[in-house]
Amino acid sequence: MRQTAQPEQRHHREFLSRWESMEPTLQKLYRSLYGEVGYTQFCDMLRLRWSARSDELLDLDRDRLEHPTWYQESSMIGMMLYVDNFSDTFAGMPARLDYLEELGVTYLHIMPVFDMPESLNDGGYAVSDFTSIDERFGTNEQFDTFICACHERNISVCLDFVLNHTSDEHAWAVKAREGDKRYASRYFIYQDRTLPDQYEQTVNEVFPVLAPGNFTYNAHMESWVLTTFNHYQWDLNYQNPDVFREMASALLQMANRGVDIFRFDAIPYIWKQWGTSCRNLPQVHTIIRMFRIILELVAPATIIKGEVVMAPQDVAPYFGTEQAPECHLLYNVTFMVELWNSLATRDTRMLSSLITDIPDNIPSGACWVNYARCHDDIGWGFSEDAARTIGFDPFQHKRFLIMFYLGAYPGSFSRGELYESDPKTLDARNCGTCASLCGLEKSLQDRDEYQMELAVKRIALLHAFCMAANGIPVIYSGDEIGQLNDYSYIYDMHKARDSRYLHRQKFDWAAASRRGDLSLPGSQVFRKIHRFITISKGQRFMGSSHRLSTLKTSDVGVICMLVRPRKLETAEMMVVLANFTEHQKQITIDTGGHPYMGEHTWTDLVQGKLIRFAEDPVIIGPYEILLLTVAS
Ligand code: GLC
Repeated sequence: MRQTAQPEQRHHREFLSRWESMEPTLQKLYRSLYGEVGYTQFCDMLRLRWSARSDELLDLDRDRLEHPTWYQESSMIGMMLYVDNFSDTFAGMPARLDYLEELGVTYLHIMPVFDMPESLNDGGYAVSDFTSIDERFGTNEQFDTFICACHERNISVCLDFVLNHTSDEHAWAVKAREGDKRYASRYFIYQDRTLPDQYEQTVNEVFPVLAPGNFTYNAHMESWVLTTFNHYQWDLNYQNPDVFREMASALLQMANRGVDIFRFDAIPYIWKQWGTSCRNLPQVHTIIRMFRIILELVAPATIIKGEVVMAPQDVAPYFGTEQAPECHLLYNVTFMVELWNSLATRDTRMLSSLITDIPDNIPSGACWVNYARCHDDIGWGFSEDAARTIGFDPFQHKRFLIMFYLGAYPGSFSRGELYESDPKTLDARNCGTCASLCGLEKSLQDRDEYQMELAVKRIALLHAFCMAANGIPVIYSGDEIGQLNDYSYIYDMHKARDSRYLHRQKFDWAAASRRGDLSLPGSQVFRKIHRFITISKGQRFMGSSHRLSTLKTSDVGVICMLVRPRKLETAEMMVVLANFTEHQKQITIDTGGHPYMGEHTWTDLVQGKLIRFAEDPVIIGPYEILLLTVAS
């Protein structure tokens, strides 16, 4: 009896001590939005959720509090996948983990799996019940077993927390439709167009082509509902403290099932104030800050990854500050855009200027998530100033990228489709798998082995650059075996209008099982990515606690990126040289400001190749990437 009581008491003491130190700040933030309304109920909910935390998770909480940088290690390699595409249901997932372990994956982002409408569900981003697994993916028990299986292999599980909206089938929406005013006040519902019309004056549309307008008319209620995304995704009203409390409660319930990383979906949109752009408002930061505190308080083993698809200057503020942190992780969205831009233009200057602009002064626990592809489209949100600086007209340049990745620009190696293509503004985004956008599909169609080799090199370059560039690299499932676009989505009437399904296909297990056969391009991709992963693990210049800078090279096609420890004042570093063109290049680098670079012989971590910057020009092959360090 005593033996079991002791750890429990210790956990309780630790919780109380966290409560004492964090609650005053939480209360202050809460009051700034809601006054006193519902605060006691909110605190009761937090205590209740903590008391439901299992012993295993309480132990994990303690471990991670003792090793708070667990997610910043170079061993962190992420993958994102759809359960149904990868293994049909959760029942089959544990058996699939061998493959992920072989690749070196330690963080697995599972695309939305909670209850969702049958067909119109935005790939699961329209949630009908935050506590129940949709039966298409298996049972709640299978989900729990899967999480345990991941933890046994030291794989952290990341799940979406869709906080801006619910589906129109969520119990709250159903009650609102039935006329229950308490639930109607959890959304934005108007009987006439006065307020919706005012709103439309100042707020942009997210899907101007696929889902125009920010409001949807509901005939049953004879009212207009705010639906920023699709018509079946009803925006939640966070001005109502019940919404905040219940969403916080849902978050903690998910945390209590063992989720390690929450992907906070579409963060910038969650607070609405008429007369503003309704994006990135200060109250959004207050809410994220509160979510962070309640996780630190109740489930400190868990961390937050923010999805903030905004201009570069609007993204880093979501890390918060050292004293008032918000997200632990943020997608490095513009970095991804600049990788694709560099491939299309064979010019790394915009990538280089972005790397220089990535702020260094982020909180010590903050880190970027680097990726080449994900389940969404690529929106061309590059810095227009950076484009102008090098003489590109931003509009024309965007048009070039759109056409290039569609495969319609003369000489393009790419095969893709347009998304949200607006014939009025000529704006569009692009879809496609990494391999098809990198030229593998076209080269196979053309039976062009030379182009095929280049495509494989492009895919490897993008992934290796993500691994080298300070952050957690996340691979989109299928890209590691070079999967091509799947055009069959157009035969499904619920998907046909959404070209993002072009790259949301079934995982090709037959191709994966032939990964030892290096005559196949997909297997070559796997081998190269696997090799970079193996090298990056344990590498002190990989991981997430570094700062990046760039040096000018004699050729715009080749970037020179320096990776140095964020905190230590040392001359030691990793030098990354990457050629974003299909041509062999001879380059020189001005190492004037970095005598350390000139003085040493540098060894490429991948091939062992030796480089001396002080001597002859460096020769770098098509799409080659060199990860150079000085042997200690
Ligand atoms: C996020 C998701 C995207 C979804 C949107 C609306 O941006 O990544 O797939 O359509 O949120 O929930």
